[in-house]
Amino acid sequence: MSESITKQSVIANYLPTVVAPIAERIDAVFAPSNIALCKYWGKRDVELNLPINSSLSISLAHLGSHTAISVSDEDQVWLNDQRVAADNKFACKVIAFIDLFRGANGLPVRVDTQNNIPTAAGLASSASGFAALMLAIDSFYGLKLEPQLLSAFARMGSGSASRSLYTGFVEWQMGVREDGMDSVALPLDSHWDALRIGLVKVSVAEKAVDSRSGMNRTVETAHLYQSWPLQAAADLERLHRAIADKNFTKLGETAEQNALSMHATMIAAWPPLLYWQPDSVAAMQRIWQARAEGVEVYFTMDAGPNLKLLFTADNEAAVKQYFPDMDVIAPFG
Ligand code: DP6
Repeated sequence: MSESITKQSVIANYLPTVVAPIAERIDAVFAPSNIALCKYWGKRDVELNLPINSSLSISLAHLGSHTAISVSDEDQVWLNDQRVAADNKFACKVIAFIDLFRGANGLPVRVDTQNNIPTAAGLASSASGFAALMLAIDSFYGLKLEPQLLSAFARMGSGSASRSLYTGFVEWQMGVREDGMDSVALPLDSHWDALRIGLVKVSVAEKAVDSRSGMNRTVETAHLYQSWPLQAAADLERLHRAIADKNFTKLGETAEQNALSMHATMIAAWPPLLYWQPDSVAAMQRIWQARAEGVEVYFTMDAGPNLKLLFTADNEAAVKQYFPDMDVIAPFG
């Protein structure tokens, strides 16, 4: 654990002495949302968002966040064309992140973010949000940071944002350095055109315990968590092999078992964390029934009640029979 290393002190090593806007306004930049097939769950450093395990995700193509920054007479944060109150948690996080770069005497800015993730899908937007904000900061202040630095700094906003700098399959390597500068995401050089992701909405209500507090509580209180790093390391290996061999069965089985193992550690936390609702369980059972009936579909879930289905294009119509309302994404276009 690095008690003394702060985000500010790490970032400062990579910034020019003067950080100032290079334009009144920059055009919006885009970062995709992502879904982990091997989850990030647990931090070895809470300040820097350094993970206990490496993770592997798939980016959601055109679904994500567009973010623009402009010079303003006071700090303002806008989300989907609505101004967000300055004391709102989201606005405070955005401004605190900008402060890491512009310094104490930085000029006020207006940040405009548009999320095109279907609100009905109940998908987290912090990954694409911080990745797009990082790219916007880089462009607004003319920093020209290397991709690995962009990933490491986006990670300090939200861990999963480190993976949202890239499209396709992405691995976030946990790293070993105390300052975390080797804890960065890298894209995998693999395409899988036939892969599809289905978003199944159970509820979009804001959850009582966010993933940040949920993972910290799990690490601190669940004895079962001790098995998680081993499970994650084995799953990461399996996923690499499944992707290299285009073995969909192996990919789906591994992702589903990984998600359920993560949820098992949460359920074993105290107070317990059960993000599932009765409809989440009903959806899982429908998936298992579909598989028993010969339709190859798997699921993954994050710290919330909604499911993300994994299947291949040839099975899309069959999966739709079970989940007629799902949104379908083709991550490789
Ligand atoms: C279950 O990246 O939202 O979605 O680093 O505290 O911001 P912070 O957490 P966050 O956690 C995501 C957890 C997860 C799994 C994953 O995306 O890998």
